[in-house]
Formats: sequence, structure tokens, C-alpha cells
Amino acid sequence: MAAKPVLNVALIGYAFMGRAHSNAYRQVGHFFPDSPYSLKRKVLVGRTDAAVKKAAEELGWEETSTDAEAVINRPDIDIVDIGTPNDSHFDLAMRAIKAGKIVLCEKPLAMTTKEARTMATAAKKAGVPNLIWHNYRRAPAATTAAQLIADGKIGEIRHVRAVYLQDWLIDDACPYTWRMNVKTCGSGAHGDLNAHLIDMTRFMTGLEFSEVCGMSETFIKTRKNPDGKGTGTVDVDDAFLFLAKLSNGAVASYEATRSALGRKNYNRIEINGTKGSLVWNFERMNELEFFDSTDEARVQGFRTIMCMNGGAHAYAGNYWPDGHIIGYEHTFINTLADFLVALKAKKEFRPNFADGVAAEEVLDAAIDSVKKHKWITVEHSQPGTGHVLKGSRKTTSKNAGL
Ligand SMILES: NC(=O)c1ccc[n+]([C@@H]2O[C@H](COP(=O)([O-])OP(=O)(O)OC[C@H]3O[C@@H](n4cnc5c(N)ncnc54)[C@H](O)[C@@H]3O)[C@@H](O)[C@H]2O)c1
Repeated sequence: MAAKPVLNVALIGYAFMGRAHSNAYRQVGHFFPDSPYSLKRKVLVGRTDAAVKKAAEELGWEETSTDAEAVINRPDIDIVDIGTPNDSHFDLAMRAIKAGKIVLCEKPLAMTTKEARTMATAAKKAGVPNLIWHNYRRAPAATTAAQLIADGKIGEIRHVRAVYLQDWLIDDACPYTWRMNVKTCGSGAHGDLNAHLIDMTRFMTGLEFSEVCGMSETFIKTRKNPDGKGTGTVDVDDAFLFLAKLSNGAVASYEATRSALGRKNYNRIEINGTKGSLVWNFERMNELEFFDSTDEARVQGFRTIMCMNGGAHAYAGNYWPDGHIIGYEHTFINTLADFLVALKAKKEFRPNFADGVAAEEVLDAAIDSVKKHKWITVEHSQPGTGHVLKGSRKTTSKNAGL
């Protein structure tokens, strides 16, 4: 068998997302043996030499560097992956685009809509393949929900009800980090968690956001610095809620907080249509709740579908025998697997920087709404892309068009 072409990856950032992405590079060929490329974990980039070296050893990277710009411009690097705090995405991605690299970037794409639009426009103009890591799309049950909706199983959508709840910031001993400073993250739970809900809504429904109206609150205004010396001012939201009107007239509500005690990563979306309803909750990520109004009345009710049937559910067949469930890390592997198929076929991958722009436009409109205490129309810089799933889909890695 001919050897697969090799792509050299440079990953910037090696903590939470650095670990998740490193694992995806390591595992993708294992679970997707038909993957068209081999990926080499070539250079891991960080700011502190000793720390990045230690991380590279743990995560299996060949080389390390503390000079992101030099690495981005290395001719042997094919893919630049950005897993750093939000304020660095723009600069790193623009440099990578300029260098003609394939660019993968964490969400939210940028600090503002303006930055995100500049990044997407530059990537398009340069013709560089790009991806935003909205990994939850590729949980098998989330993809199945999108497929069922595209197939008309719940009819016309009337309501979307989405919450993303965590509780780690209820603890006032939790130290001050980049996630609490508007200059490094742009917003709090909003950009962190609502960004995922916005993307999931667009993915599952194919609808865009027309208008939004929000409210937010910061419960703990100062926190101790990690070194115990002094405090930092929290100038982002701890909780951010907004209502939305979607492009077909459906109504929707969103709630993101990191102060909901007992909720750890409760990322749940419920979609009600004229024929049925669907619920996906990340904490039970392999299951999908489905209410079908065409069922006989005597047996009507929400059913729970285990979406790990290789013959029926996307990605399930790439892992274990039916019913052997997968986890968080596999959503990154699935995303990467589809990206590589799209790359080989020279097809546009979704979600990409344009999807990042669409999410940013909604995030910023909601922030504007909080500031102005009124409903705000979402300004779209690009036409709605519509449903990314059309008709029935294959059930394995060949979901390149997703
Ligand atoms: N897709 C998801 O589910 C998901 C989950 C968590 C975080 N994120 C996103 O991933 C990004 C990183 O978040 P995280 O949780 O991994 O953060 P983190 O704090 O755990 O890690 C950030 C990493 O970036 C490094 N870093 C910071 N500034 C840098 C710079 N200027 N240059 C080079 N390296 C730098 C840090 O040393 C660290 O290795 C954020 O944009 C965040 O919103 C996405």
C-alpha cells in the first residue's frame, strides 16, 4: 500500500485544548484508517521553554519552540493549529494565512466581529483551508439530530431552548485567569459557552439569527491572582442570557453561566418543531431524546436513542461494536477526520472561519443589546449558508461535507 502523504502540524498552546488537539492528531489514523493523510506532531509552541518541553514530552511532539512567528513561517509546516486564549487568535491566524498555511483555530474565532470578518476574508482570499473547533457538532447524537431535522422529522422549527451551564466560578477561591479579563477573552460565559450554543443552533437547524436581546451579570468582581499576590478585576460576565428570533420566525432562548452549582458541562439544546422535538445534552452525549408526533397516541412520549449504532449513526462505526460509547475527546477526532477528507477532496469544510464569523456576529449583537438595553438586529456580513446536511448521510468518516 502506498504511503499516505504526511502533513506536519504546529500546535500553539498546550494546556486544555492543546491536550485535546494533540490527542486528535495522535488518534485520527487509528480510528479513521481511511484518512487520506498522516499527521506528524512536528512542533509544539508555547511561551515558556521548560513548560513547553515538558508538555511536548507528555503529548508526543517532536520539537518545541517559544517563537510562534518563526514556526508559522517554517516551510516544512503545513498546518497551524491555534489553541491559545482568544486575544491571540487574530494575530496568529493572520500570520498563518499570510504564510499560506492550513489554519485551524479554537472558538470563539476572535475578540470581535470585525476581527473575525478580517480573518475569514483573508483566509478566503488566500485560498487556505480553515476550520474552527466547534467540536460538539460531531458528537454522533448531535450529528444525528441535525440529520433528522434536515430530513424533516420534526417539521418546521418553532422553538430552540439552549443552555450551557457550568459551576466552577461559583467558588470565589477560583483564581483570576485570562478567562476573566475582557482584554484577553472578550467576554465570559458568553463567548466561552454561548458561542457553542449559537454554532449548534446553526448546525442543527440551518437557521440564522435575526434579532437578539440579552442580559448579563458578574457575581464575583475580583479574584485572587494565581500566585496569591494581589487580585484581578473580573470585567466579563459570569452569566449571560439572551432571547433570539431566528430567520424562519422561530423563537429561541440561550443561557450560559459558570455559576450553576451542580452543573459541570451541561450543554443542552432542545428543538421543538411542528411534528416532533429533539433534545441533545452533552453530559449524556451519545443519547438523543426524540418525540415523534406521528407515533400512535397510546405510545407517544420522548424516546431515548442510543446513537452508537454503526449502521445508523455517524462516526459510531469508526469506533467499537454497537453501544460501546465514546467521549469528549472523540468529538475532536471526528472533526479532524472530516476535515482531512474535505482537504483531500478540495471541498469546503464546515465549520470554518465563516461559521466563526456568523457566531461572532450573534455574540456581539447580544453584548450590544445588554449595553443598550434593547433588541438588536444581527448584522450578517455573509448570506445564510443554510442547512449543511442535506438528505441522508453516510454513517462513517465520509461526512466530509458536514
Ligand atoms: N472547543 C472547545 O470545546 C473548547 C474548550 C475549551 C477552550 N476552548 C478555546 O480554546 C482556547 C484555549 O483555551 P484553553 O482552555 O485551552 O486555555 P488554557 O488556559 O488551558 O491554555 C492556553 C494555552 O495557551 C498558551 N498561551 C497563552 N497565551 C499564549 C500566547 N500569546 N502565545 C502562545 N501560547 C500562549 C498557554 O501557555 C496555554 O498553554 C480558547 O480560545 C478557548 O475559548 C475551546
